[in-house]
Amino acid sequence: MDIVTEREGGVLTLRLNRPAKKNALTRAMYTDLAQALSDAGDDDAIRAAVIVAEGDDFCAGNDIVDFAQGLAELQSENLEAAPVFRFLKALTYFPKPLVAGVQGQAVGVGVTLLLHCDLVVADEGARLRLPFLQLGLVPEAGSTLLLPQRIGHARAFEWLSQGAPVMAGQAQAWGLVNRVVAKDAVAATASELARSLLKLSPAAVRHTKGFMRDPDQVWQVVQAEGQVFRQLLTSPEAMAAFSAFLNRS
Ligand code: COA
Repeated sequence: MDIVTEREGGVLTLRLNRPAKKNALTRAMYTDLAQALSDAGDDDAIRAAVIVAEGDDFCAGNDIVDFAQGLAELQSENLEAAPVFRFLKALTYFPKPLVAGVQGQAVGVGVTLLLHCDLVVADEGARLRLPFLQLGLVPEAGSTLLLPQRIGHARAFEWLSQGAPVMAGQAQAWGLVNRVVAKDAVAATASELARSLLKLSPAAVRHTKGFMRDPDQVWQVVQAEGQVFRQLLTSPEAMAAFSAFLNRS
C-alpha cells in the first residue's frame, strides 16, 4: 500500500509509503489520498488529518514516470477527472485542520501541498524545492496565489525562479512551518499537534478555517494553473527535463 491510512481517536493519519521512490506521487496515490480526504471531510468522527511520510524523505513530487504514462489523461478535456486534480480539489476543500510532518527532501507538490495545511512540522534538515520553472512548467496546487500570500512576492519569486532549496529554518522564519524538530520527532509532533485540536469545538474550528481562506478562490487558481501546466507538459523544455531525469545514469 503506497498510502497507509490510520484512524486514532478523532485523527486520520495519511502516510505516504513509497520510500524507495522518495514517496513520489503516482495517479493511484493521488486517487487514494483524494478518497481518504473526502471521506474524512464527511465523517463527523474525524476532527483533524495528518499527512506524514515513511523513510528519509517526505515526497519527491509527482512521479515522473507515471506522469509520462498519464499524459493523455491529464491533457484530456475534463481536468477534474485526473487523479491529481481530484486530490487537489479534496485538499482545497478539506474543511478540517490538516497537519503535515515533513522530513528530508520535499519537492514540487510535496511542498505546494503544505500551503493547504494549517500546521506544518519539519525536521531540521528538511529541504524544500520548487523546480517548476526549471522543468519548464508553472507552479501548481494554487501555489501562485498561496505562496506569495504566505511569504511575500519577492521571496516567492526568487524561490521559484532560482531553483535553490529552502531549508526548514528559513521556511519557519518565513511563516511556512510552525515547528522545526529532530527528524525522529516529526511524525509524533505532527500527531500531537493534531490531537491538541480535539479539545476545541469542531464547529468553531471549522468556521475559523473557513473564514481564514476561501476555497472557491483557491480552486479557481488551481484550475487556471492546471490548464497552463498541462499545455506546458509537452513543451520542448519540459520534455527535455523529464527525459534527462528518466535517462540519468
Ligand atoms: N518520479 C519518479 N521517480 C522518482 C522521483 C520522481 N519524482 N524522484 C525520485 N525518484 C526515484 C528515482 O528514480 C530513484 O529510483 P531508482 O532507485 O529505481 O533509480 C529513487 O526514487 C531514489 O531517487 P534518487 O534520485 O536516487 O535519490 P536522491 O536522494 O539522490 O535524490 C531527489 C532525491 C528527490 C532530490 C531526486 O530524486 C529528484 O530530484 N527527484 C525528482 C524531483 C522532481 O523533479 N519532481 C517533479 C516535481 S514537478
